[in-house]
Amino acid sequence: MSLSITSLANIAIDLQSGISHQDRFARLIRTLRQLLGGDATALLRYEARQFRPLAIDGLAQDVLGRRFDLDAHPRLEAIARAGDVVRFPADSELPDPYDGLIPDHTDLKVHACLGLPLFADQNLIGALTVDGMDPLQFDHFSDEELRLISVLAAGALNNALLMEQLENQTPAATSAPISTKSNSAEMVGLSAGMLQLKKEIEIVAGSDLNVLITGETGVGKELVARAIHSGSARAANPLVYLNCAALPESVAESELFGHVKGAFTGAIHHRTGKFEMADNGTLFLDEIGELPLTLQAKLLRVLQYGDIQRVGDDSSQRVNVRVLAATNRDLKQHVLAGAFRADLFHRLSVFPLHVPPLRERGDDITLLAGFFCEQSRVKMGLKQVALSDAARNLLRRYDWPGNIRELEHALYRATVLARSGKPDGEIWLQPQHFQLADSEPKSVSQPAVSAPLVDNLRTATDDFQRQIIISTLASCAGNWAACARQLQLDVANLHRLAKRLGVK
Ligand SMILES: Nc1ncnc2c1ncn2[C@@H]1O[C@H](COP(=O)(O)OP(=O)(O)OP(=O)(O)O)[C@@H](O)[C@H]1O
Ligand SMILES: [Mg+2]
Repeated sequence: MSLSITSLANIAIDLQSGISHQDRFARLIRTLRQLLGGDATALLRYEARQFRPLAIDGLAQDVLGRRFDLDAHPRLEAIARAGDVVRFPADSELPDPYDGLIPDHTDLKVHACLGLPLFADQNLIGALTVDGMDPLQFDHFSDEELRLISVLAAGALNNALLMEQLENQTPAATSAPISTKSNSAEMVGLSAGMLQLKKEIEIVAGSDLNVLITGETGVGKELVARAIHSGSARAANPLVYLNCAALPESVAESELFGHVKGAFTGAIHHRTGKFEMADNGTLFLDEIGELPLTLQAKLLRVLQYGDIQRVGDDSSQRVNVRVLAATNRDLKQHVLAGAFRADLFHRLSVFPLHVPPLRERGDDITLLAGFFCEQSRVKMGLKQVALSDAARNLLRRYDWPGNIRELEHALYRATVLARSGKPDGEIWLQPQHFQLADSEPKSVSQPAVSAPLVDNLRTATDDFQRQIIISTLASCAGNWAACARQLQLDVANLHRLAKRLGVK
């Protein structure tokens, strides 16, 4: 037996100490690396056919932001399926999820790789992965020893998850089924500001308060609204979206409250308004700052009395709707300027949530970059999308006026640029692949190294636009309006462009 009683005892002790889960996991990973001698170690959480890194050692920091789908990672899929310790042969053909992500060994080819699945009862809850450059590195450990480590680590992970669940059970939220959590898009981030925001979201989700979500463009306000809804007791009921900026005053009232047949010329059918659709659920009023004053008065009435009146209907109807509103404006200023009703402002902002800009989130930029690299990799069917040190530094230095949306687009564009002329699909993103709005002007004498050879600019531009539209559309589940928003295009213009490019 090559593991001593002392070293095993140390693991057990490590797992009990530590102030936070994060600390405990980090310590476990370090101990394992010392024990097994690997070059890269990761503790992963398993949920909804996806592995999410909880702690890493010897891997690029952006790995913490990556989410590994089983369907896109045969090696992890094998670990999830195995039910026991997996030793991959050094010449395994299966791509390694950490290809290009072990800082001092960017050319990870022949190596030893171990996967230890972690179970609670019969359920897979996570995995430990250990990679080493020496192909024979782990041969002297017996399966029994590795199983023992799995059991210890699984116990620790399970305890941490149970504790987390207990901590998060605010009284009102207990009725919401926990499984709905995985439906809402995940908010990647470990910075102090984001941890605080996540805590506030959890607290407010369990209450039935209206929430005003503020923050610059692209910071994730819509994501916050989704998280509040899916963490609330209303999660099983609809979350209805309405963009107040895209609402011509003439149709706004019927959009919100519905109308009856014959209410006005052209009203040939009954129409259900958004409030009715959201009954027992949540109504998300995006860009609330743009709501016309006349409608502000009507909205206030609903919030005060809980009943709505369809256009053309004398009777009123009770609805039970929770309102979440978002704005990237300073609503208080709007109130002072007389463009927004003070009473409505106070009703909406019972619980204000501010989403911090990306430039105030420190290393979250790196995590998010990893998150979007992995997304682009899967979408474009590439083997690897990794950031060079220089690229990572560039992203960290930039101030991201368009926040997460801008980062997402920047990484996506960079990957598209970098992949031309790379048939092997192993992409290294370099600074020249990014054209950040305010970054220092590139000197003319220094041509972009990666610029593909183009013989016809028009065709090349069309190709590029076509690729972007197709992939953005795919990421928006085929929704053209969402795609247009994402690309910051008018939807009619997008349709025209798509038609010209033959995408439609
Ligand atoms: N923490 C995060 N982790 C992962 N993705 C995120 C995060 N925050 C935002 N995103 C992604 O960034 C994009 C922009 O987010 P979202 O649409 O929620 O921003 P917004 O604040 O509503 O923007 P706008 O003010 O322009 O309406 C979306 O694709 C969203 O999924
Ligand atoms: Mg939005």
